[in-house]
Amino acid sequence: MPQDKITIHTIRARKKSRKKICAVTAYDCTFARLVDRAEVDIILVGDSLANTVMGLESTVPVTMQQMIHHASAVMKADPRALVAVDMPFGSVQEGPQRAVRNAVRIFKQSGVDAVKIEGGKKMAGVISAVVEANIPVIGHVGLMPQYRAMLGGLKVQGKELEAARQILEDATAVAEAGCFTMVLEAVPRPLARLITERVPVPTIGIGAGPECDGQILVLHDILGLSERALKFTRQWASLAEQTVDAVSAYRKDICEGNFPTDEHSFHMDESILEQL
Ligand code: KIV
Repeated sequence: MPQDKITIHTIRARKKSRKKICAVTAYDCTFARLVDRAEVDIILVGDSLANTVMGLESTVPVTMQQMIHHASAVMKADPRALVAVDMPFGSVQEGPQRAVRNAVRIFKQSGVDAVKIEGGKKMAGVISAVVEANIPVIGHVGLMPQYRAMLGGLKVQGKELEAARQILEDATAVAEAGCFTMVLEAVPRPLARLITERVPVPTIGIGAGPECDGQILVLHDILGLSERALKFTRQWASLAEQTVDAVSAYRKDICEGNFPTDEHSFHMDESILEQL
């Protein structure tokens, strides 16, 4: 384990120190190594791999086995960052006992540092059971993509009084259930600010304004690898274009006989060929 490993205590302490938490997703060893070199605090093996890796519209079909597969690859990078994995839809819905069994499985088989569970007040019993089993939990309230059918789509949550009250209650409940931090997704900036002031654990926003204790984004959005252009993201690179350009140049070099050259070839004593 790296000496200055980020732990749940490092993250909890950020509420008081006010040093912002920087979190990002990664789904394989190569990118986990790169984002870790960039000194992020948290790497999330998000079930957004449904969209970024598997070409699916929704995160609902993602399985435990798929999450374990990707989380294990990320852990091979031996990151200094705290690594968390999403509990996929269906793994925690059948109540605390089943949720603990699945959390233990994912925690044991992948070696991650924490799990993330989407869900508010209704999921509080499940979250406290998983924490009781000594598995650190990140909460996730506001827009919860696993519940897109119930929420009526992927849209901003909590604009009206009742909905805002519900999200505040959800955030309070998951903090009381023992989460060491929570994701606030797609909630209006003033509501995220109020929640951040009221809950005792750090909030990590995505589309929730700058007053959260930290921020998380999907890596493919940061790198310009995804086709979606969302209001709450920014592209810090254009890797889609660079990838197309690089592979086109590779294809052109092959077609024009410019690659490989002698420099890229292995050599031998050619007199041996006479004996063949
Ligand atoms: O699955 C995911 O990537 C997430 C984050 C964007 C918060 O849940």
